[in-house]
Amino acid sequence: MSTERISYDPRGVLLPEHGLTQDDLDTLSPNLDAARSEVLADADLWQSGDEIPAVKQPLDAGYQLLPDRLLAELQEKADDSEISRIKQTAAGLASKVDQVLVLGIGGSYMGARAILEACCHPFYNQLPRSARNGNPRLHFAGNNVDNDFTQGLFDLLKRGEVAQEIEDRWGIAVISKSGGTLETAVAFRQFLKLLEASLGNDSDKVGQFVVPVTGTSGKLFDLSAALGCQDVFPVPDGVGGRFSVLSAVGLLPAALMGLDITKLLEGAAAMNEHFRTAPIGENVVLDYVGVCHAMETIRGCDIRILSTWGSRLEALGLWYDQLLAESLGKHERGAMPLTVVNTRDLHSRGQQHQEGTRDKLITNLIVDQADRGPVPVGTSENNQDQLNELADKTLPDILSAAIQGTNQAYREDNRPTADLHLPQLNEFVLGQVFQMFMLATSVEGRLVGTNPYGQPGVEGYKKNMNAILRK
Ligand code: PA5
Repeated sequence: MSTERISYDPRGVLLPEHGLTQDDLDTLSPNLDAARSEVLADADLWQSGDEIPAVKQPLDAGYQLLPDRLLAELQEKADDSEISRIKQTAAGLASKVDQVLVLGIGGSYMGARAILEACCHPFYNQLPRSARNGNPRLHFAGNNVDNDFTQGLFDLLKRGEVAQEIEDRWGIAVISKSGGTLETAVAFRQFLKLLEASLGNDSDKVGQFVVPVTGTSGKLFDLSAALGCQDVFPVPDGVGGRFSVLSAVGLLPAALMGLDITKLLEGAAAMNEHFRTAPIGENVVLDYVGVCHAMETIRGCDIRILSTWGSRLEALGLWYDQLLAESLGKHERGAMPLTVVNTRDLHSRGQQHQEGTRDKLITNLIVDQADRGPVPVGTSENNQDQLNELADKTLPDILSAAIQGTNQAYREDNRPTADLHLPQLNEFVLGQVFQMFMLATSVEGRLVGTNPYGQPGVEGYKKNMNAILRK
């Protein structure tokens, strides 16, 4: 197993004013340890099959066990394991089509997008099929209600035409745990019709071009059976939507991208082990929660800025925004998450973060090592821009100077920052990050007495929207 581990450095939070002291963090330690024990006990309780006490319901602690369970099943059952079946299904679809629509919303969407942006070529969809190793282009839909976006996607898929060439053939991965979410269900119906038309005389084989990921019963489950879908993957019981990225919900799209899904799970399993065993002070999950919680309760920093550096982490940040907001934004409490992408947003939000109200904790998400060779500024005969003196500096050099310079400026103004370091961006590291943030969200929920699972507040709009539509 790889040794690349993510790490957390909170030194920029231990500031003379407006920050924390080590004593503040030490005082919190027993509560953090207790919260860790409760989170681990939640997983045991869920696995035991015993009745869940009312105070714990809903209890979607199953995500904790998922990586280890899927990896153990791979060892035991090889080709019959879920990991292998996901890979086989993805390869089968990739051999037939060059585009896949990934339909889903919220937790059934955001993780897959985060994986694509973090681990694939930045212009993945624009690359020729050969440069994608025969893996299909992916388009995300069913995550909004936008007429012109849908029309645009219809154009791209050549509405009404029978697809002749592989480049024009496409399929659908439809992802909905409940199977009844209106945005996704409507998109599925609309694109299914188009897909049937694109198959011409083979329209009765549409089930071979659709891969559903859904709960073990429900409307989508029934529809999948009626369509004759060959492979239907489960969102396991006890795994809530925003905690489901390491089930088929995220793994199927990742496999369609040609990524190593076993490594994603190995990263998450490594994080599980670290969470269980590392002491406070060396435990990425507990240290992160400790700082976030102490900054909120002691310093009133209830805005949590995830400051991502570079262009590949924005969707990961948005995935985390949802995880935190939907899990802990309850009972008139819960910190407000906000993802920014730097250096881009230094030119839009930076001013406020430097000099605005003192209610923000900034966590930098930093990738230490770029995948590809460093691009230098380079020399030019036309030095009007006066960049020749920086000719040997590379983009990683500039990014590193921007991170250091921003942290320094914040520090001088007593603005707390912590750093979360990712050694590189690959499947193993991303698996750790997903699991780390999910565990941190569960730990914080138990620490503050908020059930992190369920999202009763989202039901209101759904109920009203349906009532209005069906009036
Ligand atoms: O975290 C959650 O449970 C939600 O964000 C869901 O993922 C989202 O509402 C989509 O639900 P479903 O997968 O049932 O379509």
